Amino acid sequence: MRMQRVGIYLSGLLLLLFVSTAFAHNEATADVAAQVDQDSARLASADDPILDNAEDMIEEGRRTFRFDTFGDEDYWGGQLQLHQAIQGASLGGVGPGVSPNTALSVGLKVDADALPRMLRGQLKSGRVNLDDPATTLALLQLDAVVGVTGIFDDGGNLRSIGIQCALCHSTVNDSLAPGIGRRLDGCIEELVRVTAARHRRK
Ligand code: HEC
Repeated sequence: MRMQRVGIYLSGLLLLLFVSTAFAHNEATADVAAQVDQDSARLASADDPILDNAEDMIEEGRRTFRFDTFGDEDYWGGQLQLHQAIQGASLGGVGPGVSPNTALSVGLKVDADALPRMLRGQLKSGRVNLDDPATTLALLQLDAVVGVTGIFDDGGNLRSIGIQCALCHSTVNDSLAPGIGRRLDGCIEELVRVTAARHRRK
C-alpha cells in the first residue's frame, strides 16, 4: 500500500518534470527560431551596413577584375603597338587587322551582356560580319571583348589597348554563339585551359 502511494507520487513527479522540461524546451526552441527569423530578416534587409559593405566590395572587385588595366596599355598599346595590328592598315593601323573570327579562334570571348539587344539578335542569326576588323573595333568600343579594353580618342580612333585579369581568368557560357555569351569570372576551366596552353608552349 505504502509502496503504491510512493509509486504514484513518483510518477506524478516524473510527469511534472517531463511536462515542464518539454515546455521549457519548446520555449527555448521558439526563442532560437525567433532569433533565426530575426537574423535572416536582418540579413535580407537592405540596411545592414556590414552586408552592404561586403556587397560593395564584391562589386568593386568585380569591376577591377573585369575592367581595370592597371595602366598596362602603356605596354600593350604604347610599346607593342598592339592596337595597330588589331585595327589593320585599312583602318589606319598595320597589317591585315584582327577580325572577330580570328580573335574568337585564338580564345578571346565576347560579353553578350555588353551588346545592344539589336546586335545580339543580329549575331544570333549570323547577320554580323565577323570577318571584318571594323567589327572588332565596334566590339571594343562597346567594351564587349572580355579582358581587353580599347582606348579610343574622341574621333573614335583606336589609340591604345590594355588587358585585364578577365582576359585569362574569365570565359563566357556561349549562350549566343561559340565564344559569345554571359561572363563567367574566375572560371577554373578557363585557368586550366590557359595554363595547359602555356605549358604546351614551353
Ligand atoms: C596573361 C594571362 C593572365 C592575366 C592577365 C592574369 N592572370 Fe592570373 N594566372 C594566369 C595563369 C596562367 C595562372 C596559373 C599560373 C600557374 O599555375 O602556373 C594564374 C594564376 C592566378 C592565381 C592563382 C590561382 C590559383 O588557384 O592558384 C590568381 C589568384 C590569379 N592568377 C589572379 C589574377 C588577377 C587578380 C589578375 C589581374 C590583376 C590576373 N590573375 C591576371 C594568367 C593570367
